[in-house]
Amino acid sequence: MSSRPEERIRELRDLIHYHNTRYYGLDDPEISDAEFDRLMRELVELEQRFPEFVTADSPTQRIGGAPLEAFPPALHTVPMLSLENALSEEELLAFDQRTRRALGSEEEIDYVCEPKLDGLAVELVYIDGLFTLGSTRGDGYTGEEITRNLRTIKSIPLKLNNAPPGRLEVRGEVILGIREFETLNRERQERGESLFANPRNAAAGSLRQLDALITAGRPLAIFCYGIGQAEALPFTTHAEMLESFRSMGLRVNPLIERVRGAGAVLAYHRAMGERRGQLPYEIDGIVVKVDRVSQQEELGARSRSPRWAIAFKFPARQEVTRVLNIQVQVGRTGTLTPVAILQPVQVGGVSVSRATLHNQDEIDRKDIRIGDWVVVQRAGDVIPEIVKVVESRRTGDERPFLLPEACPVCGSHTVRPEDEAARRCINLSCPAQVKERIFHFASKRAMDIDGLGEKLVDQLVENGLVRDVADLYALTRAQLAGLERMAEKSAANIIAAIEASRSRPLERLLFALGIRHVGEHVARLLIEAFGTMERLMSAHSEELMQVHEIGPQVAESVTDFFTTPENGRVIERLRQAGVEMAPSRAQRGDLFAGKTLVLTGTLSSYTREEAEKLILALGGRPASSVSSKTSYVIAGEAAGSKLDKARALGIPVLTEAEFKEMIKA
Ligand code: IVH
Repeated sequence: MSSRPEERIRELRDLIHYHNTRYYGLDDPEISDAEFDRLMRELVELEQRFPEFVTADSPTQRIGGAPLEAFPPALHTVPMLSLENALSEEELLAFDQRTRRALGSEEEIDYVCEPKLDGLAVELVYIDGLFTLGSTRGDGYTGEEITRNLRTIKSIPLKLNNAPPGRLEVRGEVILGIREFETLNRERQERGESLFANPRNAAAGSLRQLDALITAGRPLAIFCYGIGQAEALPFTTHAEMLESFRSMGLRVNPLIERVRGAGAVLAYHRAMGERRGQLPYEIDGIVVKVDRVSQQEELGARSRSPRWAIAFKFPARQEVTRVLNIQVQVGRTGTLTPVAILQPVQVGGVSVSRATLHNQDEIDRKDIRIGDWVVVQRAGDVIPEIVKVVESRRTGDERPFLLPEACPVCGSHTVRPEDEAARRCINLSCPAQVKERIFHFASKRAMDIDGLGEKLVDQLVENGLVRDVADLYALTRAQLAGLERMAEKSAANIIAAIEASRSRPLERLLFALGIRHVGEHVARLLIEAFGTMERLMSAHSEELMQVHEIGPQVAESVTDFFTTPENGRVIERLRQAGVEMAPSRAQRGDLFAGKTLVLTGTLSSYTREEAEKLILALGGRPASSVSSKTSYVIAGEAAGSKLDKARALGIPVLTEAEFKEMIKA
């Protein structure tokens, strides 16, 4: 390890670059994520102290600059073509026949089969191995220059390994995973923002942000599959090209296969169709490409698509069916949600018999009536939805639908707040709401009470055993065993699960309470900021809004919740039942167990004694000198020789900010 900052910065840059390639390009990491983070942290810190040594290809330079006014146009030197589609096995076989005829080939053709990713096509321009410019496909000839946004995507290397000299244009698909998409939408819902219809739209929306900071917050990824201009990259087959992509550190989809003949293509298509549901990202078919470049050249292109490749799509995830009825569900916050009951239909291999209609505005906008024929679609694992009505099939017997004024479950009057699309039942003891609240409280991501499913919650509420979540902790085994279809053993298991839920982390309890606009993410933010339930309960709107990302809507909802006397009583009863309301010793006390920490320099938030007490409280041992046994060095302002020694010994160094981040409850 070198001691001069400039050299160490270069060394770290190279190391990080190398490990990035192992991770993204080769899918074969050599070090743990934690070790990687440590290298990155050291680089960030060194660059902060010696900004004169920061280079454009440094891995720390993925984000930067003020938001743009607009995206400049970017010309594609080689047009980015589109693909012809094959929608059936016959059409694929016809493509193979055509190809063989055009090549005059007696033999089977070598093809490369790739998943057809449902994202956004982009071009990355590398000059002498450095990522210089990136753009969207646009109309194929001119796209938009989105270099800064693309730089934030971690699987796009800023520098290639052993790159050919000159210009290299790499093409690929930027995607957002299904889970990432769902998380993003959940967070947007919490903040009352509009939702993305599918991962593709979310990826496109994220890439086309004028403020690259927003893109950086979205976990986008890339797979590379094609090339534009390539001055000095030699390859004779598509498979070879992908291989050289991999060795340069570009990410290539691991499911790509080289096959011989149309029969093998059909088999690949079937196999991918079966795997489709398990993949972490959306694919809508496969892309079949003639492998040999000489054959590609011989086949050439039409105006919009090459003759040497075809997209072999999966059956559409859209189908036409009939709306048999519209029912109304009441959620845990009292929201009335209209749900279309459909004549069951297979959509992309799954039987669909219900679709959410969101709210009255949505029904009006799409003019959906009972009896209508409609187009339904499924995107990812998302709930099916109605795309549009098939108006040509209307007979005049269809019945328009209006959400009821009275709650369909308890009969109470419902209201529609002026600024909201939803109508709600405001009777807190409406059985529908009670059931939903309890079900949510017990759910996996909340208090995780195993065995307390929908059916049991129904029974508990209908038998008058449970009226609110605090009642759960007063349940006895005998009461449970007395319920229909409940064995002694399961009763005992459920009581044990309820017991165990008393010590869930505080943010889970907060999320479990089901406060409007407080999802998992917001719950975490609030607990991080306030520490205990008590402090959160007494916080005013203004204090809440001081927390980054918390706006007036969330703040109002939280204060409304806690100032409602019934809610206060439920929380008090939870506390008396032994549900933890402050971070437990166990949650905090073992953070630094068995670790030795050395403080150096001046910290701005703590005196040395306070910091040492904190370390002790968290199970660690504060020490005064650095040795190979030191676990961390915490470096404040003007840190001196201890810091140098830590570096020399390769001991992880934390800045004050990082230390604070670590010790958060
Ligand atoms: S190759 C000339 N390979 O599909 C070759 N495209 O319908 C053109 N796509 O615009 C593209 N996965 O956005 C290729 N493995 C893959 C692909 C793929 C998805 C998209 C791409 C393209 C569209 C064409």
